[in-house]
Amino acid sequence: MLYNEKDQRFKRYTITSALPYANGPVHIGHLAGVYVPADIYARYLRSQGEEVLFIGGSDEHGVPITIKARKEGCTPQDIVDRYHTIIKDSFQELGISFDIYSRTSSPEHHETAAAYFKKLYEEGKFVEKVAQQYYDEEAKQFLADRYITGTCPHCGNERAYGDQCEACGTSLNATDLINPKSMLSGSKPVLRETKHWFLPLDQDEPWLREWILEQHKSDWKSNVYGQCKSWIDAGLQPRAVTRDLDWGVKVPIEGADGKVLYVWFDAPIGYISFTKQHCGADWEKWWKSQDTKLVHFIGKDNIVFHCIIFPSMLKAEGSYILPQNVPANEFLNLEGDKISTSRNWAVWLHEYLKDFPGKQDVLRYTLCSNAPETKDNDFTWKDFQLKNNSELVAILGNFVNRTVVLTHKFFEGKVPAQGTLSEADMEVVKELASYPERIGRSLELYRFREAVSEMMNLARLGNKYLTDTEPWKLIKTDPERTATVLNLALQICANLAILCEPFLPFSTAKLQKMLNFEGKHAWREAGNASLLAEGTQLNPAELLFEKIEDSAIDAQVNRLLETKRQNELNAWSPSEVKKEVAFEDFGKMDIRVGTVLECCKVPKADKLLQFKIEDGMGTRTIVSGIAKFYPEPEKLVGMQVCFIANFAPRKLKGVESQGMILSAEDKDGRLVLITPSQMVTPGCNVG
Ligand code: MF3
Ligand code: ZN
Repeated sequence: MLYNEKDQRFKRYTITSALPYANGPVHIGHLAGVYVPADIYARYLRSQGEEVLFIGGSDEHGVPITIKARKEGCTPQDIVDRYHTIIKDSFQELGISFDIYSRTSSPEHHETAAAYFKKLYEEGKFVEKVAQQYYDEEAKQFLADRYITGTCPHCGNERAYGDQCEACGTSLNATDLINPKSMLSGSKPVLRETKHWFLPLDQDEPWLREWILEQHKSDWKSNVYGQCKSWIDAGLQPRAVTRDLDWGVKVPIEGADGKVLYVWFDAPIGYISFTKQHCGADWEKWWKSQDTKLVHFIGKDNIVFHCIIFPSMLKAEGSYILPQNVPANEFLNLEGDKISTSRNWAVWLHEYLKDFPGKQDVLRYTLCSNAPETKDNDFTWKDFQLKNNSELVAILGNFVNRTVVLTHKFFEGKVPAQGTLSEADMEVVKELASYPERIGRSLELYRFREAVSEMMNLARLGNKYLTDTEPWKLIKTDPERTATVLNLALQICANLAILCEPFLPFSTAKLQKMLNFEGKHAWREAGNASLLAEGTQLNPAELLFEKIEDSAIDAQVNRLLETKRQNELNAWSPSEVKKEVAFEDFGKMDIRVGTVLECCKVPKADKLLQFKIEDGMGTRTIVSGIAKFYPEPEKLVGMQVCFIANFAPRKLKGVESQGMILSAEDKDGRLVLITPSQMVTPGCNVG
């Protein structure tokens, strides 16, 4: 039975997690925002004996997938096949306990989505509109916004997209672009008429306002509520649910050739079609029963789709329930920077699993304790290491290990008799009893950080109990009392073996095995101090968590630094050409070639080299700030360089420099000396 009264009327839970686009692997931002909390919630409810259906799957339509396929010279199906497999396998390895993980390119999904559209169409729920849209006459195809580039009317960026300018962040209409260009053929697109079907969201405003802004005023998270309110207050507009594109669910009516359902129309129907795939004929109770609680786990960029558009689709159909809650999270950053697929600024799940085998729970724990629940949050590798070493290892792992090891040492690994409890023991028992509700209530309110920290507090309670009672000393004077202490400590371990399960399923399985307490345990068994019977034989102690060394963390940080360096190089472009000058201005510069006679470092100046140059008239000394790039200056002797001969001399670190040697600055900041392509007479002019 759940702790929050409001939830007690529900018999079953349909839990959905946003369908990740199958155009890239999943990263920690997705996990912290959506999948880790959704999985914890699903596991918790199952442990509470609730009937749960936890749905996931890949979102395999949409323009970015077709663009990626074009770039790679393969089909969109190739792309989604590749990433669906990576995503599905990595979720499974992390222990995300989907009841079904399917995909929207499956025939079953196409059928369900098409039928859904058709029903609304036949009942007149759409508005038909003919609008002008860009068409590529060479490629003979209408252009989705992302297929058009041009100049941003706001900032002049020449590479703005038809839906957005990434330089200034403004969202655009394709027709706003100056000099629009088709990405398919490079030609200038023309406007052509095309028909589309719109969901008249404007007509939904009254009930949406009542349903969200009144009924869910107090139980939806404030970030979710706030976004909904500003959408509704701004006035909802009809929304096109079809596109001129050939990748997606075909629009199932006559006269709609070359049109597919808009990806945001078909994808959420995936939740329904996957339910059908999983449940067969019995699927409807998950979607049409008033005693089913529907909860959508999503990231903040999905709020409008799950709180406004999908509900209005469900309402239009008429026989579906609406979500009771949409606990959207904010974003997770990585080492202070926005996670970005295109800049490869991410920790990818499949790579983490390779780099940290067997450490699924460490990632789950870190992401849950750091979840961006109320504001954006930052993931750092240092913090990851700290959470592992000073919480999982030092608190939870240490408590369990001490308890099990001491039981083996003093009682041959058998659960000793509980005996008579002291007053202090009874305090501990009383506190122990409060944990299932403390953790459970937080979870029911979608406060995952709070819940996981309560979980850790239970391990802290255990540690404190051992520190207070010191069984390792007590055994010498009072074996009977030692039995009581270890019995109680073991009872706390067994409670952890139930209450940690939603958060740390892998370590919990290990713990259960150690305690000989395996099998499915109900949440409500926890909270008491008699879970392990006297005499139960424990298995050998095993470490639940291991210290993560600096070297493992440094390797990750270095990889990110390298990524950053690469990104900076990729972002390089030549500097702007300077203002026009007259030829006479150039003529004022006296540039000449000289031969290097000597070259050495300037003492106490790590950047400077001191050159002695033969300049045809004698020798001159020039100091140049290129030491970093020429670690063996003596090797420059004999080489010819270009220098400015008519600069006023100036002192650098005590050396008088009589000119300036010319070098080119490469995009990584490296300075390279300019040298004539053949030997010339020292002192000759450059011009
Ligand atoms: N693919 C979308 C995203 O990653 C989420 C789709 S959720 C669904 O933002 F409801 F449409 F399925
Ligand atoms: Zn712009």
